[in-house]
Amino acid sequence: MASVNMHEPSPQDAAAAHELLDWALARLADRRGTLPPADPHVTLPAFSAQGIGTAAALHALLGTVFPTAVPPDHPRFLAFIPGTPTVAAALADMSLSAAMVFGGSRLEGAAAVDAEEATVRWLADAAGFPATAGGTFVSGGSMGNLSALVAARGARYASGRRQVVITGTSAHSSLAAATRVMGCDLVVAPPADDHGRLDAATLTAALEGHDPEGVVAVVATAGATNNGAVDDLAGVAGVCADRRLWLHVDGAYGGAALLSPRLRGLFAGIERADSFIVNPHKWLYLPFDCAAVLYRDARAARHALVQQADYLDAIADDEAGNPSDLALHLTRRARGLPLWASVLAYGTDAYVQAIEHCHDVALYAAERITASPALELVLEPSLTVVVLRRLGWDAPAYAAWSDAALHSGLGMITPTRHDGETVLRLCFINPLTTRDDVDMVLEDLAKDPA
Ligand SMILES: Cc1ncc(COP(=O)(O)O)c(C=O)c1O
Repeated sequence: MASVNMHEPSPQDAAAAHELLDWALARLADRRGTLPPADPHVTLPAFSAQGIGTAAALHALLGTVFPTAVPPDHPRFLAFIPGTPTVAAALADMSLSAAMVFGGSRLEGAAAVDAEEATVRWLADAAGFPATAGGTFVSGGSMGNLSALVAARGARYASGRRQVVITGTSAHSSLAAATRVMGCDLVVAPPADDHGRLDAATLTAALEGHDPEGVVAVVATAGATNNGAVDDLAGVAGVCADRRLWLHVDGAYGGAALLSPRLRGLFAGIERADSFIVNPHKWLYLPFDCAAVLYRDARAARHALVQQADYLDAIADDEAGNPSDLALHLTRRARGLPLWASVLAYGTDAYVQAIEHCHDVALYAAERITASPALELVLEPSLTVVVLRRLGWDAPAYAAWSDAALHSGLGMITPTRHDGETVLRLCFINPLTTRDDVDMVLEDLAKDPA
């Protein structure tokens, strides 16, 4: 049986690698060319004893698999929370796989850990966290929220027989999932307003009747996925401080706006939180998957999260700690490095401009909706989520339009619900989205019955 050397590049591999780089640059240069997606009913090549070679395997990925994906970086992908990596971030991310950096420990990662920590510090400064703060990068907001709640429980030694996590109505579904994993109950405070915000009064109402010892954490949302709302962080922080409760802020989507002088005021109070998350794979322009989880007191978080084993003594760092100690992970990709490389490459001003451009486009969309006789704003836009109604449409009409929009290449725009009513939701976090894109979508939406 002929043996194949899978671990050294052959001349054919080198040719395939150059082709791959050309493809990657062309893909990044033409994000508008990615819609509509190809028919996903493709025939995938099967595994075989001999294999088909690197070039053919890459062709299968580039030519067969990738074209069927709906690209979140298309300027009219306005559903869910999309993502648009910068060129430097995408290239740095590609390089990470070949460099094979173990990002879990200082012993192995050295400067990679320093670079990730500098990036964490940049985010901590944006939130106004003290010098004791620290954090790491995990796979996503769900893992970030879970890690923060586990740290909260560890730090507080919550001892009530019934342990609860308290959120507002706009909290992300990952928090319900985290409480299920932790065996805690989720208590949802009543909404303070149409956006479902949490404030001091609604939090106080939700706390009534709960043993404070059993409150693992209060979670405020800084940028609700469904409508962009930012909870009253200052009011909530005040209640938490009075009662010595752990405050976690979920800024998975909205946290990026901490960098914008124009939007920073919405987050007043975040500096008093015990932990917060922000997902660079959303509005900080990284490829999937990357969320930052930050703790006000990194030592307390380490205490709750560090893994111990005889064979790990070699990497343990009791003084400075390791990235592995700060979340539910051990082996980890240094997934914060592409953010470090991207901020280094373009500078912090470029981030502010990109974030504020998205806000401008969201405000423009709101204006156009208000001016259209066929459309109606459902809520005042918050951050960059715009929720609207197409007059006369029901749920099947929205679904039909959304499906047609995707397949014609108009865009990826999906319905949601507000107060039980099916409505449409646009999320603007792509700096390549223009006013013309907004006009195209809204004109199509307004033009005729679905
Ligand atoms: C506010 C908020 N929190 C948490 C999450 C979960 O993040 P992830 O999808 O990265 O797990 C999301 C994702 O959309 C989100 O918008």
